Amino acid sequence: MRTQVGIIGAGPAGLLLSHLLHLRGIDSVVLETRTREQIESTIRAGVLEQGTMDLLTEAGVGARMKAEGALHHGFELAFEGKRRRIDLTGLTGHSITVYAQHEVIKDLVAARVAADGALRFGVTDTSLHGIDTDKPSIRYRHEGEECELQCDFVIGCDGSQGVSRASIPQALRKDYERVYPFGWFGILCEGPPSSDELVYARHERGFALVSTRSANVQRMYFQCDPKDSVDNWSDDRIWAELHARVDSHDGQHVVDGKIFQKNIVGMRSFVSATMQHGRLFLAGDAAHIVPPTGAKGMNLAVADVRVLTNALNAFYVENRTDLLDSYSQTALKRIWRAEHFSYWMTSMMHRIDGASPFEQQLQVAELEYVTTSRAAATAMAENYVGVAAV
Ligand code: DHB
Repeated sequence: MRTQVGIIGAGPAGLLLSHLLHLRGIDSVVLETRTREQIESTIRAGVLEQGTMDLLTEAGVGARMKAEGALHHGFELAFEGKRRRIDLTGLTGHSITVYAQHEVIKDLVAARVAADGALRFGVTDTSLHGIDTDKPSIRYRHEGEECELQCDFVIGCDGSQGVSRASIPQALRKDYERVYPFGWFGILCEGPPSSDELVYARHERGFALVSTRSANVQRMYFQCDPKDSVDNWSDDRIWAELHARVDSHDGQHVVDGKIFQKNIVGMRSFVSATMQHGRLFLAGDAAHIVPPTGAKGMNLAVADVRVLTNALNAFYVENRTDLLDSYSQTALKRIWRAEHFSYWMTSMMHRIDGASPFEQQLQVAELEYVTTSRAAATAMAENYVGVAAV
């Protein structure tokens, strides 16, 4: 079998790339190890930057996001018993939408299916061949058969544990990594929102985040030991912890609900440079990871795909290779900006075991500054909505 662009991974990066290429008349096949049901139900973050919203809308897959997502013009920082608002729209002219990543996935899968796009679920034994020639291929097993997909380009959108990044020789790559000694405990619950806007809370017991999914479903997180197990946390214990961390801030209180999902995520910063080798290009988590604070992960994947789509389009339409050649360099500017922002927000908001009283006061001083200086608040806001200069 032959296609122009072979895409490994049906996450936001792979599916969006396939859809955008289709809109430009470029053919692709998407290979995914999981099932459609699995990718459409995996719980991830839910904040879409302005540029992500715009791209989904331009690509004709933004209708449900607009109807069911919630447009937010600001968020709150809670610390030292008080709450301060970051006025995203007032400071930047832009906003964000709270809309779950798996809903974006559903919209993209529906668009690919409607266009008769080639999407193979449940593939195994994927391997890449000839990526340093102009005839690369992907071998895999699907429904009991050995298959080979010949293509012009292979795009690795298969996440941090996928086969794609590992296909770039280690000697040509540099990995940058930081592992944080804490994780996030996430819950989904039935009930009304606790707040009109997201609340990021710094508390001596640890960080907490109040987010939302809809009028009846809420998403909340609190800092935990990454090695802890959800089985150690009864609903009562979870609510006690969230109340302790969030309610102590002026006028703020969490509204309890029926918890129907619990998970723990570790926190890591990671960048692979380069993000390309020969005819292989990486996008999204296959090339970089951010800790969740600030919700940059999916937005970075979408930004990679925007750059890659333009580069592939320039190749097919104008026979230009310059945009492909500079893909990593272009994408990495935005990635490092987001890496810094996510690291910075994480470091400012979390309880760091072993931090000295001096270091704790620095966290508070930084929060005071971003919530009182218009210049500092603007810097935070433009990173949050995703329009910071890079
Ligand atoms: C959500 C996740 C985040 O990491 C964040 O910073 C804000 C919101 C969420 O899942 O709603």
